[in-house]
Amino acid sequence: MINPKLPKMWYGGDYNPEQWEADVWQEDDRMFKLAGIDVATVNVFSWALNQPNEDSYDFAWLDETIDRLYKNGVYVCLATSTGAHPAWMARKYPDVLRVDYEGRKRRFGGRHNSCPNSPTYRTYSTRIARKLAERYQAHPAVLIWHVSNEYGGYCYCDNCASAFRTWLQQRYSTLEAVNQAWNTRFWGHTFYDWEDIVVPNALSEEWSGNRTNFQGISLDYRRFQSDSLLDCYKLERDELKKITPDIPITTNLMGFYPELDYFKWAKEMDVVSWDNYPSLDTPYSHTAMTHALMRGLKGGQPFMLMEQTPSVQNWQPYNSAKRPGVMRLWSYQAVAHGADTVMFFQLRRSMGACEKYHGAVIEHVGHEHTRVFRECAELGKELQQLGDKLLDARSDARVAIIYDWENRWGIELSSGPSIALNYVNEVHKYYDALHQLHIQTDMVSVEDDLSQYDVVVAPVMYMSKQGFAERVEGFVSQGGTFLTTFFSGIVNENDLVTLGGYPGELRKVLGIWAEEIDALLPGTQNQMVIRGRQGRLEGDYDCGILCDVIHAEGAEVVAEYGSDYYQGTPSLTVNTFGQGKAWYVASSPEPKFLKDLMQTICEAHGIESVLDAPVGVEVTRRVKSGTAYTFVLNHTANPQEVSLGESVYVDLLTGKEERERCIIPGRGVMILEDTGN
Ligand code: GLA
Ligand code: ZN
Repeated sequence: MINPKLPKMWYGGDYNPEQWEADVWQEDDRMFKLAGIDVATVNVFSWALNQPNEDSYDFAWLDETIDRLYKNGVYVCLATSTGAHPAWMARKYPDVLRVDYEGRKRRFGGRHNSCPNSPTYRTYSTRIARKLAERYQAHPAVLIWHVSNEYGGYCYCDNCASAFRTWLQQRYSTLEAVNQAWNTRFWGHTFYDWEDIVVPNALSEEWSGNRTNFQGISLDYRRFQSDSLLDCYKLERDELKKITPDIPITTNLMGFYPELDYFKWAKEMDVVSWDNYPSLDTPYSHTAMTHALMRGLKGGQPFMLMEQTPSVQNWQPYNSAKRPGVMRLWSYQAVAHGADTVMFFQLRRSMGACEKYHGAVIEHVGHEHTRVFRECAELGKELQQLGDKLLDARSDARVAIIYDWENRWGIELSSGPSIALNYVNEVHKYYDALHQLHIQTDMVSVEDDLSQYDVVVAPVMYMSKQGFAERVEGFVSQGGTFLTTFFSGIVNENDLVTLGGYPGELRKVLGIWAEEIDALLPGTQNQMVIRGRQGRLEGDYDCGILCDVIHAEGAEVVAEYGSDYYQGTPSLTVNTFGQGKAWYVASSPEPKFLKDLMQTICEAHGIESVLDAPVGVEVTRRVKSGTAYTFVLNHTANPQEVSLGESVYVDLLTGKEERERCIIPGRGVMILEDTGN
């Protein structure tokens, strides 16, 4: 349990009473009660208020807020307020200001705006974290610490440059090793002095954000900035831990956010929390995959849904309203994938500045007679009724997909082979196929123990890190099925090609050699032509983006290309290795192919759908103390029929017994507890 003080699904969100007068607070208290809200995230952007100048701190407003909330039955998720520095700090100590990608020194403004290597930022953020911990250590309202907010963005200032050199010295020891890792003889970039190394941005090696002349330095700069921000988090965390060792600590993450290596971050967090902002047309399997990734960051431990909007965002190009029932549906989708909290940004809509059109539980009209409030209050009631039933329940997936941030950086920084190649999209194609089959899937890191799974899929595993290939070999030889795709095993951690033929170190387990990589022009395709019938695979399927021209070296050829100069050569292979199998998908196939392939592979392991449900209905399972809870989520606007198989269930939301088949209303949710009968 995240914190047994509140043994239920937490319900609440970001709350900024400091933007309002006291008469509004009483209304807040009243309406929170009506909505069943029991957690408020406070103090997220209040540094300027807490510390009006260098020497004084004033927490009177926060004392009053926390006391008032607690008196009204609302606990707090207490932020450290360091997500935006005060104006006086920027004026007095310009080292807190970042230098941007174009090399411009920023002035005061915005948020998430502090240089992570600024001595001033580090000193003052640590100090205020300590002051907060000292002050609120014994306050019964505090459930969890929320350090800063949505860490992100890179800085390119001189402090960062010199910290980068130190970071490089720690990683490589010698300049010679750096030169080697970055292959600096290319274009005559050899460094003879550490000071020669400047940060890679639009003034030096990069352009357009992720185009670079040297993958090596750009990749290391991403690692370094991710680490620098993580150091800021750790500095605050350590202060909090010293004083309040028993209060859990988190910081809110952002799903597939590209800039930070969240697997590394999660190791430093007690609980993962994240902010979920899909738009109306985001495929729901993409949201599902992101929840699975957030769950996977800490090996399947339940996470917090820290933020979502009850209705609209303000920052998307088109901020559509969540249709009736969709806020509830998406809240339960988070729970279905492992969330133990449902929280919003924000509880009350602000009056001014850029988020005044961002949805909130309490809208500008100020009263409770709105569709959005009614839906929030209904959900609040349901979550109260659920009590602690689902807390700590875990996924029981036997299939995992590997996702890796450094691999992503490597692919995105790579000049060639195709701008159409998008790592996250390729990962999603596989997740989506499994999701359509209603097969439970975890998202894991390259370091995770693979032996707990039967099937491991690693789409576009471009960067094969040290030891990875051996671990895959171990997994497969013990009977596991591994699948990887085109453009895999190409480079090591430093983005240096593994010589001797692609897919490098993965060549042995896959039993193939990829001789050439062909990028297909937009709108053009090749085909995967299945030899005979192989499980669910039959006939021709389209494929595109990249086609690896491969040779089987021991692997069985399951499909061939249908056209072009490599017509008739392998496009899909499977290699028997020890007790297991390793698949190579040499191109990016159409969805139908992936569904048929994943079904074939899962059937061979006896892995079944959680339930048999129609398109548009999502099914997942969480298990707690031997009891399975099956979530059925109807993402369509119409009623759908779902067959329930042999078991007898009780729907936790209605209390009704369900068996054989049921009709789930449009946007409906069922949480089916298996009665064991
Ligand atoms: C993020 C931030 C919040 C708020 C929301 C708006 O998640 O953490 O402070 O700006 O976005 O969607
Ligand atoms: Zn900096």
